[in-house]
Amino acid sequence: MTEQQILDLLSELSLEEKIGEMTQLSPDFLGAAQSVDLTGPMKELNVRPEDLPLVGTTLNAFGAEKLIAMQKKHIAEHPHHIPLIFMADVIHGRRTIFPVPLAMACSFDPALQREANAVAARESAVEGIHVTFSPMADLVRDPRWGRVMESPGEDPLLAARMTAAAVEGYQGEDLKAPDRIASCFKHFGGYGASEGGRDYNTVDISDGTLREFYLSGYKAAADAGAAMAMTSFNTIDRIPATANKKLFRRILRDEWGFEGVAITDFDATGELIAHGLAADGREAARYSLEAGVDIEMMSTHYLNNLKSLVESGEIDMALIDEAVLRILRLKNRLGLFENPFKGADPEHEDEVCLSEGHLEAARRIAVRCAVLLKNENHALPLKKDAKVGLAGPFAESAGVLGGWAFAPSNSSASLLNGLKACGIEPVLAMTEELKPMQRGFFDVSDQTAELSKLADCDVVIAAVGEHSEDTGESASKTILRLTPNQEKMLQKLKEMGKTVVAVVFSGRPLEIKPVLPYCDAVVQAWFLGLQSGAALADILCGKENPSGRLAISFPQTVGQIPVYYNHMNTGRPLVGKPHRFVSCYLDCPNEPLYPFGYGLSYSDFHYSALSVRKGSGDALLDVSVTVENASDIPGRETVQLYIRDLAASVVRPVQELKDFVQVDLAPHEKRTVSFTLTKESLSFWNNEASVFEPGEFEIMAGHSSAEVMRQKVTL
Ligand code: BGC
Repeated sequence: MTEQQILDLLSELSLEEKIGEMTQLSPDFLGAAQSVDLTGPMKELNVRPEDLPLVGTTLNAFGAEKLIAMQKKHIAEHPHHIPLIFMADVIHGRRTIFPVPLAMACSFDPALQREANAVAARESAVEGIHVTFSPMADLVRDPRWGRVMESPGEDPLLAARMTAAAVEGYQGEDLKAPDRIASCFKHFGGYGASEGGRDYNTVDISDGTLREFYLSGYKAAADAGAAMAMTSFNTIDRIPATANKKLFRRILRDEWGFEGVAITDFDATGELIAHGLAADGREAARYSLEAGVDIEMMSTHYLNNLKSLVESGEIDMALIDEAVLRILRLKNRLGLFENPFKGADPEHEDEVCLSEGHLEAARRIAVRCAVLLKNENHALPLKKDAKVGLAGPFAESAGVLGGWAFAPSNSSASLLNGLKACGIEPVLAMTEELKPMQRGFFDVSDQTAELSKLADCDVVIAAVGEHSEDTGESASKTILRLTPNQEKMLQKLKEMGKTVVAVVFSGRPLEIKPVLPYCDAVVQAWFLGLQSGAALADILCGKENPSGRLAISFPQTVGQIPVYYNHMNTGRPLVGKPHRFVSCYLDCPNEPLYPFGYGLSYSDFHYSALSVRKGSGDALLDVSVTVENASDIPGRETVQLYIRDLAASVVRPVQELKDFVQVDLAPHEKRTVSFTLTKESLSFWNNEASVFEPGEFEIMAGHSSAEVMRQKVTL
């Protein structure tokens, strides 16, 4: 349709039709249109049978045949035959499940995120899905928050690059393409800063911190052309995001020029009442609409109140028209007026999903997301002739896909199966699976007596961690240690004199310091998806060389949280040993256990020859550093560039990541890597605007935020 045809259509719609477009209900409601259930959820939400054919979008319906049938029925019943949009939570793959987003960020490779999401788009589109509620761009410094596993980590630059790539991967060049879907970034904004890491909790951060750190991922998504934005559940500076004019009208629309559709999170308009902002549903609807939120997800305050708010003159019809225009434009961008079924193809659905190529990509990508945290005495890779034991609750577990995987668990994903495929037949002991805390289970039973079965083993792989249901939404925790019987198992294995290789499955950094003395090697496995076992086995056997880097710092103890690398300095910084009246803890170092950017390899990388020179044109500084693979094993290194602005009109972080590059180095190969720093990359938010202030800078390049070469320069 042309823009004029869209405008004509808008002008023909009744107010009821417009409000229907602005309402999102689950497919259960849409299926119920024939046999109206007036006692169940319809009554609760006060939905009348005549409202249902007007509802403009739905969420989390899957399967091409079902979606085609729903669409046909909807178009037939809608007075103007406007098609539905099918939205869904496709977070890390639709049927080919990829690593969880936090793990993806640890690849430090946006191209992999783009590739994974293009696969997810293809598999979703063939089922008839049009929009995914992804990427989650919430920056996080607090691993107590369960949703950290859905996030790109603690750094604004990495978050921006991964988020932009995520959007590009889903959307491609043209949303009309049969194998592409639209992307809805979320949760705008600042959701990752929930106080105490407790989900849905208050967020109270300064404007400077919001702009410099927390907004970065969302802005990158908007700049990459994301079609939609979702609100978050939290308040921010005392105004819930779903009613926050500063966020949605000023920053998103006016400053960033976002023209896409804004949707609430699940029932977030209704939550304005619980927050204590709106007195009732009518006021809640007004607040959300005035903030610029176009669609209400799974609550009906728009549906039940907008008509009377317009009729009483309390809200201007223009607010409704602008929202509906944006929704119609999105339907048009998706090509739904010409082809309401888009890519839905029941005949080829099973052929497209889980294809060999998709599984190969999932395996290759999973390998890149695991992070080797410790490897003493070359415990890894496993020696060819070693007798291997396998213990722990994740040894045989298929529950390694990670949250939001709407796919059946698949035993081929387990570590045991991965090892077997690599030709290793491990001796098993103490493999009882962990059950979720969410359902009242807190530990595995103490089967350490069984470990004697491993007496003959040279090395034991201990597959430990947290249940994947205890990560993600509504999965905040205050204790991040492994369960007592898992810790006991590791201790016992060490006491038996085994070489212990811990493989840690988790959606967040766990507090693993207490067990480090028992582990010779530690692989942070996250939840790597359908090819988890295969990818981990490849790393453990040495077929693949680990290259993942931490996208978030690992705390020494929960009491240190938030601990993140790009913090400000204090007026009393700790230099040397802790002593009184400086900023430190009496019982714990200031530094994290493992810092941002950290990760080991089977190769050794040496840095030399950091050079910082004034540039020309846009380039204020040309930086180069030489990296050498000082080992006999080919490996991939992530060269990281950081800066510190030593004095500025607002205090600057002690380190800021400004760029990173990955290089594949053959044994003993040396490469010089170059970076450019521009005025823009050295600018910061001074509480009024983004500015560049000349002066002294420290330039750092190296292997992680804590292992860098440094040089000062004055601009
Ligand atoms: C979550 C969103 C999700 C939505 C729809 C909410 O509870 O916060 O991230 O997209 O549900 O399923």
